[in-house]
Amino acid sequence: MSPRVAILISGGGSNMVTLVQAMQSGEINATPVLVISNIPTAGGLTKARALNVEPIAIDHRSYKGDRTAFEADLHAILTKNSVDIICLAGFMRILTSEFTKKWDGKVLNIHPSLLPKYKGLHTHQRAIDAGDSHGGCSVHIVTSELDDGPVLGQTSVQIMADDTADDLAARVLIQEHKLYPAVLADFINQL
Ligand code: GRF
Repeated sequence: MSPRVAILISGGGSNMVTLVQAMQSGEINATPVLVISNIPTAGGLTKARALNVEPIAIDHRSYKGDRTAFEADLHAILTKNSVDIICLAGFMRILTSEFTKKWDGKVLNIHPSLLPKYKGLHTHQRAIDAGDSHGGCSVHIVTSELDDGPVLGQTSVQIMADDTADDLAARVLIQEHKLYPAVLADFINQL
């Protein structure tokens, strides 16, 4: 059976687009059913509509810091749509352990560093400041710890002498677009 996938975003959604296209082309044996953003103006919602995937906004600001209520509504939408797997793709909200436990082993995330290095934000600048030879990206299973959980795949990207964080981010993003669909395809094939 083809698993039903929801993709959670907060921004432009370029990773989301590559995942949806890989599912729609059959490269990934799954069906993209929802794209959910916590930011109603996220550009990725428009891209989802263009790809014929239902876009849904759940504006976290209207919950005034009540993460439990936000996640209850998120969970309700996911279950109502019989979602099997959640892919976080530039989703900039931390999920509580109550939520991640409910979806244990079914939530994937892409993070722009070679985990376990540089959890959290500003990963590219931190890699450059540390004098690392390589940055990169990782796809991992989401657990209750931020940017933790088993790593399913990684790609290294060489850091050039004059790289700015933006330069490195742009080259890493190209690799994210290859890594995430490949890892999701393998993950689903092993279910
Ligand atoms: C990606 O670099 C992702 O790894 C990070 O946020 C960025 C999202 O980009 N968490 P996009 O919205 O997929 O274009």
